[in-house]
Amino acid sequence: MSQKWSPAVWREHQAHQMPEYPDAGELAKAEAVLRSYPPLVFAGEARRLKTNLARVAEGKAFLLQGGDCAESFAEFAADNIRDTFRVILQMAVIMTFGGGLPVVKLGRMAGQFAKPRSEPIETRDGVTLPTYRGDIVNGYDFTAEQRVPDPQRMVQAYTQSAATLNLLRAFATGGFADLHGVHRWTLGFVARSAAGERYRDLANRIGDCLAFMEACGLTPEVTPQIRETEFFTSHEALLLGYEEALTRVDSLTGDWYDCSAHFVWIGDRTRQLDGAHVEFMRGIKNPIGLKAGPTLDPEDLLRLIDKLNPANEAGRLTVITRMGSDKIQRHLPALLRAVKREGRNVVWASDPMHGNTIKSSNGYKTRPFDRIIGEIRDFFQIHRAEGTQAGGVHLELTGRDVTECLGGAQAIDEVDLTRSYDTQCDPRLNGAQAIELAFLIAEALKAEHDQQRLAAAS
Ligand code: PEP
Ligand code: CO
Repeated sequence: MSQKWSPAVWREHQAHQMPEYPDAGELAKAEAVLRSYPPLVFAGEARRLKTNLARVAEGKAFLLQGGDCAESFAEFAADNIRDTFRVILQMAVIMTFGGGLPVVKLGRMAGQFAKPRSEPIETRDGVTLPTYRGDIVNGYDFTAEQRVPDPQRMVQAYTQSAATLNLLRAFATGGFADLHGVHRWTLGFVARSAAGERYRDLANRIGDCLAFMEACGLTPEVTPQIRETEFFTSHEALLLGYEEALTRVDSLTGDWYDCSAHFVWIGDRTRQLDGAHVEFMRGIKNPIGLKAGPTLDPEDLLRLIDKLNPANEAGRLTVITRMGSDKIQRHLPALLRAVKREGRNVVWASDPMHGNTIKSSNGYKTRPFDRIIGEIRDFFQIHRAEGTQAGGVHLELTGRDVTECLGGAQAIDEVDLTRSYDTQCDPRLNGAQAIELAFLIAEALKAEHDQQRLAAAS
């Protein structure tokens, strides 16, 4: 392994999942434009997230990462950003209140544009075109013109990320996230669901707590945590030319940070030990993620950990397992044991989405809510059995009333899928399903907490 790292060294390694741009000159021009643009986040913020994640590794906080599978240029609107933000906020409140742990909020937002695909080409009615790889690369419509990778799209993705981040920062600190507003966060369609009713009850109890705290002098003026929140951004670092262009030296420490987001992760398809993605990620100092699917062998995981987190720093690396509800029992324990045996510090998070994707009989890519819940339950149970920390969840969700995942209290069935199936990539939980899941996680966290307290007392 070469010790000398720079943001461009990945170019000497094999890079999977990269688009073939027809004009190298145009690509270089777009990358030069991005290099001249300001960073989207500051290194100090990324370090703060790393510190928060170190607390997750110790079991003193829980990670909630969520958002769209893929953001799109067409759906870029304040309402969509607000609705996703507030459902994440609601989930965090449910988990904090019910589970008794602070929640680290990390959006799959403000940069989640590039998608890994299983096939490089797509054929319809005898016509073959390049696959859609996310709006940062090419267009969704099945036309030759749209499917050509266009480097200008990277500049548009940057601009949209900047505006999204600006709004998220405003929501987080400008009053929207004030705990006194817990009732107002509920969206109309969620309010009418069973999960909405449960949420209303919880919001009432929080209101009582706030009144009590204020009577004791803990007002929003002296306790900023009541009126504002911390919110971080993340995406898959798939399109390496884009990530390279936004990687900058931090003037305080002299270290390299990928300033396209606070946290970036390596996908399950691009985690080759000597591949370009791992090579790029090992050199940036952000907290990073690594997706771990059922084909990842424990020894290979250890090699990846050594390369990505050689100093064994807590909070640097989050391993996001995405096994599938039918495979988690077979594959997760061995990974946990190997990492524990070698004393490696990682945050363990569960992505219960990507291993549970099926095709409905009417042709929709969907995910049964039961399988999502099943994988999360097993995730907690296996960690408890192995004596390791179930640190967080990674979800594809939207605040909107979509019908993309089957089941949940609304009992979405295959016919419902035809009603409001809007995703450009993978099926997302809707607001009501997301809240329902948050209550379930809160119960699991509470059980864990109670058990630890009991153990400490005896
Ligand atoms: C994703 O998170 O959108 C994704 C493609 O996941 P994975 O790499 O785990 O398949
Ligand atoms: Co996805």
